[in-house]
Amino acid sequence: MEKEFIEKLDRFILDLSDKRNEIPVLNFVLEEQGEITDEAIKIIAEKTGIWDLTIKNTINFYPKYQKKKYFELTEIVYCNGRNCIERTEKIIDELKEVIQFNEDGLSLDGKFKLLTKRCFGECNGGPNIEINGLLYNKINIEKLKLALKI
Ligand code: FES
Repeated sequence: MEKEFIEKLDRFILDLSDKRNEIPVLNFVLEEQGEITDEAIKIIAEKTGIWDLTIKNTINFYPKYQKKKYFELTEIVYCNGRNCIERTEKIIDELKEVIQFNEDGLSLDGKFKLLTKRCFGECNGGPNIEINGLLYNKINIEKLKLALKI
């Protein structure tokens, strides 16, 4: 990255009223450079104090930033419908003993995202958990770990 652009980026970040929001910075870099490189992420992290993992997660979330995908995000959607919730919550609690999640449901390593759905319409097969769009019936912690390859 050119020294001139790094200085421009520096000024842009200094002028921001909210330095904890990476979105305007990513937009700026994308407009100016056409892509967000690892070097850009490092510089943004240094100058804003935002974790580079957080920046990478944002890049993963918004396709327009993804010149390069940093890692695959596995979505774990557990049923919180009346027939499943007690059992799925127990399984998710067991999962949280293995994987640490932040309050947004994103794992600290950025590889897994926890979501919920109110009933998959397969109550008889419950407890139900969907992983990247594939529904697992009668799931338990062992099956879940196997499916997640952890
Ligand atoms: S309540 Fe879980 S599938 Fe219906």
